[in-house]
Amino acid sequence: MKKRSFLGASALALVAALGSTAVLAQDVFKVGLIVPMTGQQATTGKQIEAAVKLYMAQNGDTVAGKKIQLIVKDDTSIPDVTKRLAQELVVQDKVDVLAGMGITPSAFATAPIATQSKTPLVVMAAATSSITLSSPFIVRTSMTLPQTSSPLADWAAKNGIKKVVTLVSDYGPGIDAEKFFTARLTAAGGTVVESMRAPMRNPDFAPFLQKVRDLKPDALFVFVPSGAGAAVMKQFQERGMDKAGIKLIGTGDLTDDDQLNGMGDVALGVVTSMQYSAYHPSAKNKAFVAAFKKANGFRPNFFAVGGYDGMHVIYEGLKATKGQGGEALVNAMKNLKWESPRGPVSLDPETRDIVQNIYLSKVERKDGELYNVEFDVIKDVKDPGKAK
Ligand code: DHB
Repeated sequence: MKKRSFLGASALALVAALGSTAVLAQDVFKVGLIVPMTGQQATTGKQIEAAVKLYMAQNGDTVAGKKIQLIVKDDTSIPDVTKRLAQELVVQDKVDVLAGMGITPSAFATAPIATQSKTPLVVMAAATSSITLSSPFIVRTSMTLPQTSSPLADWAAKNGIKKVVTLVSDYGPGIDAEKFFTARLTAAGGTVVESMRAPMRNPDFAPFLQKVRDLKPDALFVFVPSGAGAAVMKQFQERGMDKAGIKLIGTGDLTDDDQLNGMGDVALGVVTSMQYSAYHPSAKNKAFVAAFKKANGFRPNFFAVGGYDGMHVIYEGLKATKGQGGEALVNAMKNLKWESPRGPVSLDPETRDIVQNIYLSKVERKDGELYNVEFDVIKDVKDPGKAK
């Protein structure tokens, strides 16, 4: 009698222990965040990781009964590494969501893995228009280059800038920027007299800038990825381009908040178009910037907001599906609409790309620091790269 009850109790304890581990495994929701933390794009990873962690600190780590577990991997911005890490995260760690993607080639390398494993992929940075077309499991919370560069061409044409030279990084987002900026400027009566492409990795802008000086356009339009803007600014000044009367304009990647304050006076007056400025005057953004700076000691840039909003779509998507992942989660995420630190945004359910305001800004000194100060807004811009 005594022995039986002992066995019964231990069997019960075993069931309870097994049961609780089973529930535990089922109640964990894993997010595999792949970003560049070292190498040329390291600031992108630093910004995104900081923002993702801030979102989780502010909103808790339990959503729809699931405990969110974040796994961060450094892909050094080498696409083959991104791909290997994505495979490992899906197969070994069994992540529920892949996220991050600092540059376009990384996103394209990961897309087939997302499709084959039916794992939602939240692109928080990479910005070539066609990325969302490469897998039905992708949603994007950053931007596209057609979206950010088109409004700047309209502004240039209306502000006496008729003759332009373009200088872009020679890969997906640069080619998108060149194509859409040129088409819009031309349609508005302007001309692009020279289209130049610099290597994406370790570019030396000097020979390009020398050529721009000789061509004497009204303005030089630049797209370089986040982190490369300071080098362009420095060389622009060293060649006396500003003094030669050539205006510098570009997408906001050029005057990236991560680097802007260190660029010095040469950045003053540079006009850009972008979805985010740390100086955006909404209450939501002021609270975001204050909390971000307090936690990290540096200013958030547009990719930080891409990461913060990326976590937001994962959290809100999970609430809508009551904790279900996979295709159900993608379907929930692609119908979301919310207020971001950048302003009101939504995802376009047809393309799974972000619809957002694009702000025209000018670099000014405010409270002793350089900021992109918004002076105009084009509301609810959909990616023109996917217009039929
Ligand atoms: C991409 C990377 C960037 O750093 C940026 O500012 C814009 C686009 C990209 O590789 O898609």
